[in-house]
Amino acid sequence: MKRVFSGIKPTGHLTLGNYLGAVQQWVEVDQHQADALFCVVDLHALTVDHDPARVRRLSRQAATLLLAAGLDPKLCTVFVQSHVDEHARLSYLMECVATDGEMRRMIQYKEKAARERERGGSVRLSLLTYPALMAADILAYGTDEVPVGEDQTQHVELARDLAVRFNQRYGHTFTVPKATPPKVAARVMNLQDPTSKMGKSDDSGPGIVYLLDEPEVMRKKVLRAVTDSHTDVVYDREARPGVANLLDILAACGGGDPEALSGTYTSYGALKKDAAEAVVELLRPLQERHKALCADPGYVDEVLRAAAEQARGMARPYVDAAYRAIGLLPAV
Ligand code: TYM
Repeated sequence: MKRVFSGIKPTGHLTLGNYLGAVQQWVEVDQHQADALFCVVDLHALTVDHDPARVRRLSRQAATLLLAAGLDPKLCTVFVQSHVDEHARLSYLMECVATDGEMRRMIQYKEKAARERERGGSVRLSLLTYPALMAADILAYGTDEVPVGEDQTQHVELARDLAVRFNQRYGHTFTVPKATPPKVAARVMNLQDPTSKMGKSDDSGPGIVYLLDEPEVMRKKVLRAVTDSHTDVVYDREARPGVANLLDILAACGGGDPEALSGTYTSYGALKKDAAEAVVELLRPLQERHKALCADPGYVDEVLRAAAEQARGMARPYVDAAYRAIGLLPAV
């Protein structure tokens, strides 16, 4: 059975972008068709200025939301990155295989580092080495496929390159993974600025639908989405990004095709109304299960404890093999 690994970073409240770009396919496809692991990558949340209590709270919330979204601990492994030491152990070896040039070329590094500097802050070294830890997350499990949104494919490509390089230098150790973005909504855009990604760490509230927004708030955000001055409904991501985003969202909620859907609308108003209802209906069961899970924290604790134990057992053979292959003396 193929191995699937993916992760989500607890740096903000989870968004519709996270759901449609990643979580939905984990729930509907991956957990049923693969030996799958899904990880709340809390170590990655320390790469930018952070509040310790908030990261802890968001990590728990992310894990609870993944279970509420329908990840079933009987079918897959849902765990927290820092509970499994193998990620940090292997990350160092990845830093010994990667080059600083490769790290500096990553788009997300360039964007985030520029943002930190603009704010007058300094850039944490871990922001630069972020992709080494991400490669470790993936390679520690012999992963075949990494279901992620479009913004993460460059990082997965780097993990691929590092796996190939490690294998060539030190002997075959790692499976070479590939990114598997969803066909629709691999890049959900901000509703107020459809030329930029809907990101959970951004501050622009009205353009971002959060999974735990009240239904009325979600509806308003979608109904007020920025479009353009045309009136006909055409799917063109370049020229008409706002409308294309709404079509993507509507299609991803109902499993349809955005281009085909565009032909069924004659006004932006009707499209917005249907997209708003589709989002509310899609997330209603998740919100109900989230409420129930919050009332039963012992259950979430136990899922995370058992999953971490399972993940440790899965990762250790790969990481131990990498330690031996690269030339480290085994501890006796
Ligand atoms: P993160 O936490 O930013 O996002 C989690 C997942 O959601 C996807 N996503 C989106 N998809 C479509 N449209 C959007 N607007 C949107 N926003 C986010 C992301 O592509 C991702 O799949 N570096 C990763 C976390 C990570 C990871 C890993 C992922 C760490 N180690 C190993 C896979 C494998 C990140 O920051 O994702």
